[in-house]
Amino acid sequence: MTSNVPNITTNNGVNIPMLGLGTWKSKPGEVTQAVKDAIDVGYRHIDCAHVYCNEKEVGEALKAKIAEGVIKREDIFITSKLWNTYHRPDLVEKALRTTLANLGLEYLDLYLIHWPFALKEGDELFPVDEAGKAVYSDVDYVDTWKAMEEMSKKGLTRLIGISNFNKRQIERLLQNATIVPATNQIECHPYLTQLKLSDFCKSKGITITAYSPLGSPDRPWAKPGDPLLLEDEKIKKIAEKYNKTPAQVVLKYQIQRGHIVIPKSVTQSRIRENFNIWDFELGADDIELINSFDCNGRICPYVDAVTHKDHPFANDEY
Ligand SMILES: NC(=O)c1ccc[n+]([C@@H]2O[C@H](COP(=O)([O-])OP(=O)(O)OC[C@H]3O[C@@H](n4cnc5c(N)ncnc54)[C@H](OP(=O)(O)O)[C@@H]3O)[C@@H](O)[C@H]2O)c1
Repeated sequence: MTSNVPNITTNNGVNIPMLGLGTWKSKPGEVTQAVKDAIDVGYRHIDCAHVYCNEKEVGEALKAKIAEGVIKREDIFITSKLWNTYHRPDLVEKALRTTLANLGLEYLDLYLIHWPFALKEGDELFPVDEAGKAVYSDVDYVDTWKAMEEMSKKGLTRLIGISNFNKRQIERLLQNATIVPATNQIECHPYLTQLKLSDFCKSKGITITAYSPLGSPDRPWAKPGDPLLLEDEKIKKIAEKYNKTPAQVVLKYQIQRGHIVIPKSVTQSRIRENFNIWDFELGADDIELINSFDCNGRICPYVDAVTHKDHPFANDEY
């Protein structure tokens, strides 16, 4: 089955399908079917992470669809992420091999440093002290990046990249890197448009992958009364104009900005809806209008580590 999703080409010539399926919060009992449905609909890009604790179940779907002959391994783009407790350079290969074993793959297409700050090494994904406070590690992300470069040289992943890095951290990384990150995966939606960070990354040859593009209504820390992006009257009005849904509008907004976008859903009808965005174009005036909805509305601030020296959002404008 061929897919009609456009690709973006990275600084070293690899194609990434611009629409992918997110899997954070997708329960192990739901994610296998969701990934199968997505592949049947035409998705050819799945965004995974060790910390989502469901990579085995994602892998089951991939195995089934390859066995059915619907896809070959090389037809699908698989991303995963190095968790914060494995930043020490000697832990990176083991972490990547664990992810490969869970997904049942021999190589990844893209491996990201999930966050720029490191947490205490060990078995706990979220190490805390007796007071319940996060326990940090001072491993430098530049040293982690050097180990990531080795993973790509070994052929364990085709591309390497970063996630949640700010401008200053990217500049420092580039001064010390031999491989330019393929992407910076960052929170991006109409309430946090990331115009400056997007322009900066593009100027360095780094693509943007937009996460939580629908406003992440199922984030665990959502409170009653929090604004709901997909219920926003301004977005609804634009959607009506194009005869599309609010979700389709905010996803196409990312694509037209040249961003990769990775909406999460475990609902077959929504997986299909989110894929059905190729038959309309937002006018430049509507892109501008959506840009004006920015309200620094960050959904994933990772407040538990806000005092970490490498926390990306604590001290920098972007
Ligand atoms: N790098 C990072 O630090 C980071 C952080 C956050 C997210 N991510 C990645 O980005 C992906 C997407 O972000 P996200 O999961 O935070 O949030 P999101 O994709 O913005 O929103 C997901 C939520 O929207 C619902 N939904 C999906 N399609 C919909 C539609 N057409 N209409 C109405 N509701 C719809 C989903 O419900 P159902 O599933 O129930 O259908 C789910 O509750 C993640 O899954 C993950 O892969 C990465």
